[in-house]
Amino acid sequence: MKKITAIVGNNADNSTNRKLIQYIAKRYTDLADIEIMEVRDFPMFNKPADMKLPDFVKEKIEVIENSDGVIFATPEYDHAPPAALSNALAWLTYGVYPFVSKPVLVTGASYGTLGSSRAQTQLRQMVRAPETRANVIPGADFLLNHSLQAFDEEGNLVDQDKVLLLDAMMNDFITYIDVNAQLVDAIAANKKAAVEHSWDQP
Ligand SMILES: Cc1cc2nc3c(=O)[nH]c(=O)nc-3n(C[C@H](O)[C@H](O)[C@H](O)COP(=O)(O)O)c2cc1C
Repeated sequence: MKKITAIVGNNADNSTNRKLIQYIAKRYTDLADIEIMEVRDFPMFNKPADMKLPDFVKEKIEVIENSDGVIFATPEYDHAPPAALSNALAWLTYGVYPFVSKPVLVTGASYGTLGSSRAQTQLRQMVRAPETRANVIPGADFLLNHSLQAFDEEGNLVDQDKVLLLDAMMNDFITYIDVNAQLVDAIAANKKAAVEHSWDQP
């Protein structure tokens, strides 16, 4: 059984992105062992001078490293992923490289019409940063618009077309994890480039 980390990309108590991730974790138990990670649990990134990471962050890095894939659900704040998600990514890539060549699926939910499309586009770029270098599944867009109305009282998605789309995307993501596992030639070079990269060089 594949292991997937599913990241709730917002810190709001009533986050519909959390509902989306919880729905994914509940619905696809036959496809993968899905562990939820909350960005709100991370401390505020403070660029520790000695690059010494808090134990909590080290634990989360290990969880990502041991995952076969990572799913994000991001809201959109001012056309971008929110600070809480960016903060967690800073910790998870500060002198550590758990995302290199890791299969990633980006999803997101927003209250409005566009379903976090601009935030998702940015997030796909963020996870391709030199120290991150995740492999985002191509051709998979899950935009949950009008997300306040999207779930019933049991936390299930109401729109059956969205359910079918998510089913298809999750099946494809499992396939992509296997395909990605065959793309081994560049992994070592990518890891080396990530490790050798530093934003702190003057
Ligand atoms: C500070 C702030 C900025 C926002 N900016 C946008 C935006 O640029 N585009 C958009 O579609 N929604 C925007 N929204 C509304 C969000 O769609 C909504 O609050 C959030 O994505 C829902 O995610 P959540 O249910 O996980 O909290 C904004 C909300 C806040 C609080």
